[in-house]
Amino acid sequence: MRGKFISFEGGEGAGKTTQAERLAKSLNNAGIETLLTREPGGTFGAEAIRDLVLEGTSDRWSGLTELLLMYAARLDHIEKLIEPALSRGVWVISDRFADSSMAYQGYARGLGKEQVEKVHKAVLDDFQPDMTVLFDIDPVMTMKRVETRGEEISRFDAESIDFHNTIRQAFLDIASENSNRFMTVNADNSLEVVETQILFAVVQKFPELAGKLGDSGGRA
Ligand code: TYD
Repeated sequence: MRGKFISFEGGEGAGKTTQAERLAKSLNNAGIETLLTREPGGTFGAEAIRDLVLEGTSDRWSGLTELLLMYAARLDHIEKLIEPALSRGVWVISDRFADSSMAYQGYARGLGKEQVEKVHKAVLDDFQPDMTVLFDIDPVMTMKRVETRGEEISRFDAESIDFHNTIRQAFLDIASENSNRFMTVNADNSLEVVETQILFAVVQKFPELAGKLGDSGGRA
């Protein structure tokens, strides 16, 4: 049977990466082979494109160039990693996917919804995740987290608070337009609370997991 594809979305420093690791572990522990990956990146070629888009000054690329680079990386990721895994029955969790292109390039960089939809259609047709978990949190809180982590600041982290507020609102709009696949969590909570919300939602979405994903999964 074909695996399921779950994406994690949200602004910077919302805790997606940690939660993606936790969910992958829970699924693997439940006997479901799960692959954890990320965008931009995930394959050799897409990771090379990642360096191009994340490094440098914020005006290094125009919005459309940035979008095309993201989709070039995404196509390589799908062709070489995601699709082969799903066909083998492996579940795939991706830390970001196409909704990030809509939020960042479509909304925040101002390309507009139609432009992003056109490129998506041309490159991927109707391909979308089976489920998307949105991490919603006030950017003021997350910018503090990003600073205290002491990580290198990417081109996107360096953007203004207005940019990050736009991203937040963009994801909320995208989620309400795609409510069949989106589940929004309040990311301003402890790791455990957020993890429980995610396990609960995953079991609701995929009832075949009931009783397999630990306590919260078992109750759903
Ligand atoms: P990353 O350091 O992985 O950020 P985070 O930990 O917050 O996920 O950097 C990825 C950056 O790339 C992030 O700022 C969002 C941006 N991005 C886009 O602008 N468009 C896209 O299509 C994708 C996948 C990411």
